[in-house]
Amino acid sequence: MTEFTKTQLALRNGQDKPEVWVAYRGLIYDVSASKMWRNGKHYEHWAGQDLTDELKDAPHTERVFEKFQVIGTLHVSS
Ligand code: HEM
Repeated sequence: MTEFTKTQLALRNGQDKPEVWVAYRGLIYDVSASKMWRNGKHYEHWAGQDLTDELKDAPHTERVFEKFQVIGTLHVSS
């Protein structure tokens, strides 16, 4: 699987490039098709970053990721 750096992920914030990516537990999901992530924003959260620690604030579980494709892994120290 392709490994991406935090810098590469950050460009997929729904503002700088058309793709909207979110990292969760080391995996990067492409949520570009979601109306709920339009322009990279989801409630007070922004795409293009690792949102693992933020899921606890959500009214839903990680099952919301099930219908999205994993497009790569997040490099641990970049
Ligand atoms: C204030 C925090 C948040 C609120 C109020 C919120 C609210 C919602 C609601 C109402 C939905 C649609 C209903 C559902 O599937 O349960 C949803 C879907 C989703 N949420 Fe959140 N969420 C929050 C935080 C987060 C965080 C931190 C993440 C990522 C770690 C996230 C990822 C997603 C994803 C991927 C979906 C599916 C979108 C789709 O199916 O199109 N959410 N969220």
